[in-house]
Amino acid sequence: MRNVQEFSYNNNQAAGKVTETFPQLILCQYKYTMIEDWDSAYQQRPYVEKTPHEGVVRFIANLDHPTTHQILDLGCGDGRHLVFLAQQGYSPIGIDQAIWGLRRSKQWVEKERLKTKLVCGQVSSLPLSSESIDAVISIQVIHHQYLNGIQRAISEVKRILRINGKFYFTVPKYPPTGWKNTRYKKVADQTYFPLDGFEKHIPHYFFRIEELHTLLAGFKILKMNDDKTRHLAVLVQKG
Ligand SMILES: C[S@@+](CC[C@H](N)C(=O)[O-])C[C@H]1O[C@@H](n2cnc3c(N)ncnc32)[C@H](O)[C@@H]1O
Repeated sequence: MRNVQEFSYNNNQAAGKVTETFPQLILCQYKYTMIEDWDSAYQQRPYVEKTPHEGVVRFIANLDHPTTHQILDLGCGDGRHLVFLAQQGYSPIGIDQAIWGLRRSKQWVEKERLKTKLVCGQVSSLPLSSESIDAVISIQVIHHQYLNGIQRAISEVKRILRINGKFYFTVPKYPPTGWKNTRYKKVADQTYFPLDGFEKHIPHYFFRIEELHTLLAGFKILKMNDDKTRHLAVLVQKG
C-alpha cells in the first residue's frame, strides 16, 4: 500500500547547489542556498522530536473533526505532527523546504501505514489554492527567516485558509534570553544566527508581543501564551 505520494529527487551538487524536483507532487523546483542548512541538520541529527507539541494536541482536540477536512502542517520537518494528525483520523498535508525532512516524514508515515501528502515548498509562497485549508499548524517554523519573509508567510496562511479557519503556531519571544549559552550573531533587527550547533547560520527572528498584533491583522487572536520552550504559542482565526 502506498499512502504517501511519491517524490523523487535529483541531486546536482557539482556547483555547490542542489536542484530538487518533485514531479508527482504539486510542482516544486528551485535552487537553494540557505535551506541546505536544514537539510544538513536533518542528516546529522536523529528525529527532532518524536512526540507532538502539547499545544497541537490541545488544538486538535478542540477542532470540530467532521467539518475539518484539510489540515496543513507548515514546516512539517521530519513528521512528528503529521504522524499525530494522521493517527487522529486526518489526512494532513505537510509542507517543508527540506528534502531530508520530507524523506524522513515519508519513511515514518509509511512505517505507520498512515495517510498524508508531502509537498516541498516555501512558507512564503504556498503551492495551495486560496481558501482550501481548514486549519494550519506551524511549530517553530515561520521565524526562520527575515521579517519580510515572515510577513509573506502570514499573508499566505491567510490566503489559503477558509473563512473561520484556524492557525496555531509557535515562535520565539524577544529578547533571546534563552540564548545565554549560545554563540550568535545579530544579522538584522530581532534576527540572529547561532554560530554553532544544528541550527548554525539559520536565521531566528524573535517576536515582540505587540508586533504580533500588527502582523496578524485580519485574524482574530483567540489565544497567546508561553509554551514550555520559551516560545509564544498563538491561536488565531481568519475572519
Ligand atoms: C525547528 S524545525 C520544526 C519542524 C516541525 N514543525 C516540528 O515541530 O517538529 C523547523 C522546520 O521549518 C522548516 N522551514 C524553515 N524555514 C522554512 C521556509 N521558509 N519554508 C519552508 N520550510 C521552512 C525547516 O526546513 C524545518 O523543517
